[in-house]
Amino acid sequence: MKLAILSRAPQAYSTQRLRAAALQRGHQVKVLDTLRFAIDLSGHEPDLQYRGRLLSDYDAVLPRIGNSITYFGTAVVRQFEQMDVYTPNTANGITNSRDKLRATQILSRHNIGMPATAFVHSRADVRLAIERVGGAPVVIKLLEGTQGIGVILAPEVKIAEAIIETLHSTKQNVLIQSFISESRGRDIRALVVGDRVVAAMRRVASGDEFRSNVHRGGTVEPVELTPAYEQAAVRSAQIMGLRVAGVDMLEGNEGPLVMEVNSSPGLEGIERATSLDVAGAIIDFIANQVAFPEIDVRQRLSVSTGYGVAELLVHGNADLVGKAIRDSGLGDRDITVLTLHRGATVIPNPRGGVELESGDRLLCFGKLEEMRSMIPERRRRRAKVRKLPKEPIPEN
Ligand SMILES: Nc1ncnc2c1ncn2[C@@H]1O[C@H](COP(=O)(O)OP(=O)(O)OP(=O)(O)O)[C@@H](O)[C@H]1O
Ligand SMILES: [Mg+2]
Repeated sequence: MKLAILSRAPQAYSTQRLRAAALQRGHQVKVLDTLRFAIDLSGHEPDLQYRGRLLSDYDAVLPRIGNSITYFGTAVVRQFEQMDVYTPNTANGITNSRDKLRATQILSRHNIGMPATAFVHSRADVRLAIERVGGAPVVIKLLEGTQGIGVILAPEVKIAEAIIETLHSTKQNVLIQSFISESRGRDIRALVVGDRVVAAMRRVASGDEFRSNVHRGGTVEPVELTPAYEQAAVRSAQIMGLRVAGVDMLEGNEGPLVMEVNSSPGLEGIERATSLDVAGAIIDFIANQVAFPEIDVRQRLSVSTGYGVAELLVHGNADLVGKAIRDSGLGDRDITVLTLHRGATVIPNPRGGVELESGDRLLCFGKLEEMRSMIPERRRRRAKVRKLPKEPIPEN
């Protein structure tokens, strides 16, 4: 394949290793400076210029987009996506994971263990938020912190309030997070490639420091992950839309607590700690996937008027239960079942003979009007009707 590594740091360890791994496997590879692209939207098809000249054809890109150039960098990645060039990490995935709050919001509906987190704006809401995540000691995080800077452990509610107020007064956004004391000074970095963890390490803080960042003097050791940790890491990366990711987890009493998903994980620390060829694993994965550029399914399938993608619920009382897909009438209504979710399992491309059960969720493509009646009601988080008081309501 012909691969472009998007990076502003051609000499960095990670870039060098990825380049060498690609060459070693007989691929063509170029390191291109992300900031030297020009996005060309003037013609009939999306195009890219590089250093003032039309970019040659590439089979795949591997984006290594630094924090400081997220906006332009993701625009370049999105342009490659529009040109059907394969990228393991999509522009959306990079954007979503970059913001700690946004990432936490997205992961929060997928049953992934995470430290309890709150985000507030008003001074009046700070105390309640601290209490809701479990009270002091509490962790306060700047939204745009990195390398451990901007992560504070506040021992008391009053101190936490004062810190948060100070930060708010300088227009800084902060997360309030429960302090996972059993993981104090330790965390796990899992390197996810595709749907597996290819390497993992534990970072251990030095002395009485609670942050395990290497930049704060932490050390690293290889670690063998249990399936719970591997699953949490792989699922988090998948949900974020990242096929190459560094997933950071705290070691909670009940299992992994995902803190963060990194779209450009550094390779030096993890390769040295584990002696594993992580760069090689990344290149092999990309080479395998090149034929399958990312497709925004919803966008592509919604172009015919009246058609779209929807998730349908097989109701307990509906006439679908117990019927095989081919006898369900879905086909006659011009509805195609793409996947069937049953409990924790997913059946892709379910055959006509598969019998539907109550509670099945079907990801379907078809006429929106036909599917409307089968769309599950929105989840209600709280009962709509309040309980009556014990005493009858007095008439007035
Ligand atoms: N809720 C928490 N409970 C216990 N320890 C924590 C908690 N949050 C963070 N830590 C410790 O602090 C360190 C730094 O936190 P975090 O990774 O969130 O910020 P960062 O490293 O500055 O950001 P980035 O990972 O984006 O560079 C973690 O590696 C972990 O050791
Ligand atoms: Mg970190």
